[in-house]
Order: sequence, then C-alpha cells, then structure tokens
Amino acid sequence: MAIDRLIQPEETENEQAHISENREASYNNELSLRPQNFKQYIGQKKLKQNLELAIQAAKNRSETIDHLLLYGPPGLGKTTMAGVVAKELGANFHITAGPAIERGGDLASLLTKLQPGDILFIDEIHRLSSAIAEVLYSAMEDFGLDIILGKGPSAKSLRIDLPKFTLIGATTKTGSLAAPLRDRFGHVHQLDFYQLEEISTILLQNAKLLSLSLDQEASVEIAKRSRLTPRVANRILKRVRDYAEVHGTPNVVDLETAKKALKMLEIDEHGLDSSDRRILKIIIDKFNGGPVGLDTLAHAASEERSTIEDYYEPYLMRLGLIERTPRGRITTPKASKLNLS
Ligand SMILES: Nc1ncnc2c1ncn2[C@@H]1O[C@H](COP(=O)(O)OP(=O)(O)OP(=O)(O)O)[C@@H](O)[C@H]1O
Ligand SMILES: [Mg+2]
Repeated sequence: MAIDRLIQPEETENEQAHISENREASYNNELSLRPQNFKQYIGQKKLKQNLELAIQAAKNRSETIDHLLLYGPPGLGKTTMAGVVAKELGANFHITAGPAIERGGDLASLLTKLQPGDILFIDEIHRLSSAIAEVLYSAMEDFGLDIILGKGPSAKSLRIDLPKFTLIGATTKTGSLAAPLRDRFGHVHQLDFYQLEEISTILLQNAKLLSLSLDQEASVEIAKRSRLTPRVANRILKRVRDYAEVHGTPNVVDLETAKKALKMLEIDEHGLDSSDRRILKIIIDKFNGGPVGLDTLAHAASEERSTIEDYYEPYLMRLGLIERTPRGRITTPKASKLNLS
C-alpha cells in the first residue's frame, strides 16, 4: 500500500462511483475493529451521553429516537456511531449513501422496505439531490411518502404511510446541507478530533483484538501521529504490526519498533504526512503564506478541493498551522517555524 493511501481519506473520487454496492462490504470489512456498543466506543463523551439518554427514554416509551445527524471530518466514527445506536436500540440497520439514491424511486424502495423502529443510515447525506431531499422531508416529518403517478393533467398523487423509523445522516460538511433538511433532525452532533489518551486507549483495545502485544508508550507514540483520528490510528497500527513481523518480533510492538516503523511511514512528530507538509509548503513558498483561495490551492497541490477542505484543512487548523480568512487560507507563524523539507 502506498504511503499516501495510508493517510488519505477512505475513498477516492473514482471509487465513489461504485461505492453504493461496496458500502455494506466496507462496513463489514472494518467490522473487526469497529466498536459494537457504547462501552467499546471510546471518547466523544458528550455525544455518547446525549445518545444514551435519548435511547433510554425512547426504550422506556417504546418509541423510536429522533432523527440524528452526525457531522465532522472523515474517520472520526460517524458510521461506527450509527451502527452502535442501532445495536443499542436492538434495531435493524440499513446502510446507504447520498450518491446511491439517484431517483425518487430509489428512495421510495428503501423507505417502503423499513420495519417499525428500523434505522436508515444515509452516509454523505449532503450529496442527495434537492429533489430527493424534498421527498425525504415528508418521510422524516410525517412518515409519509407522496408519489406522483403518471404525467400531465392526468397525474395522480398517492400517499403511502411509512412505519416510524429513525434516519441517521452523516456528512463531512454541514455547510452544504440545506437548512430545511438539517432542521428536520432532532439531534445534530459534531464529532471532534480525539484526545491523545483516547486514541491511545483505542489502539490498546484494538491491539488486543489483533492479538498484538502493544506497549503503552508505543501506543502513545502512534497516537501522536494519528491525526487524532481513530481510522488513521488503526491503519498505522496495522502497518506497525507488519513492520514488527518483518523487522522485529512478530506481534510485539515496543516503543523502539513503533518509532522505526513511523519513520519509515514518513509521518512526523506532529502527525503530518508528506501531503500535509506539501500543502503548507505551497502556501508558504508559492503564495507567500497566503491568503490563497481554496480552488487555487487545490489546483497548485493537484488535490481535489473537497479533499483539502474536508480532510487536510481541519487537522492543520486544529494544530494551528493554517487559518481561514475571508480572503483565503493563510499559514500561521507556527507553520513557518516547521521544518517542512
Ligand atoms: N470512538 C471510537 N472508538 C474506537 N474506534 C473507533 C471510534 N471511532 C471510530 N473508530 C474506528 O475508526 C474507524 C473509522 O470510523 P468510521 O468509519 O465510523 O468513521 P466515519 O466518521 O464514518 O468516516 P467517513 O466520514 O470517512 O465515513 C472504524 O473502523 C473504527 O474501528
Ligand atoms: Mg463513514
């Protein structure tokens, strides 16, 4: 696996074309390390508290929970949380994604399949077309589906009642979610980057699942390079395990082995990979530290605009290395002090 794929977001644009069929497969693929319940789901305390309360209340009243919108950078655990909520409710879990729902009929067939209390998870919900989103409004609000049969003056409208279900939407950007859609979610929660100790705990928990002996210090070292993101941490853990297999003691990772492996992966002590460093360098060298517009930057870095916006930028901002201004992105004095070569 190329190094940049290790750090890159989950899917490239090309892969997104056939993602709908693969979505369930990829969910199951990551399943081995995917928390199954609130106890295994580390961190995001406030989110967990809120949802545990909502679930308890719903169970007491034998009702479903309100629709839930989760947003935040990739790999922080939105899909995982959706699955946990379904498990905790003991509800059926149906997975789909915005780009997979092309026509009203696609949505109708998804909705009419639902049983009372089921969870419908729509990933990348910001990519639903506005026409589809409109159909979704009445489904979410009134649990009804209005279907137009025929065309022209003879067209008839038919209303289908739907069972009470819970929609869980996930998006990396709330900004591009239409207000009428956003407003129909009873719970709206942002997932934030994790604390270092939380990532370290996730790593130790997963090392156990992988039958890997991982030192506490090694877990902290890996956590530091993980962009405070569980998915990245898990991927690095697997690469470090490979390294130990070949260059150290199989299934044993101590601090020294972790450090050597991380060096090979070219992730620095801030968790920056070569692409992060390249983006910073471009702003500093080519644009004199900015401001530079997102499109210009994406072009200069040969990256998709959305990759920079959703993936690189949140972490660079979190580290205080870049800032957003009305005129574009600028690097901070802290970034100028880094050794970016
Ligand atoms: N709170 C957590 N505790 C332990 N592991 C976690 C947690 N959150 C996420 N993970 C791990 O990180 C991986 C990525 O999480 P997930 O797929 O849920 O992210 P996501 O937010 O849906 O990302 P994307 O926006 O790319 O869809 C999961 O396979 C899971 O193993
Ligand atoms: Mg996801």
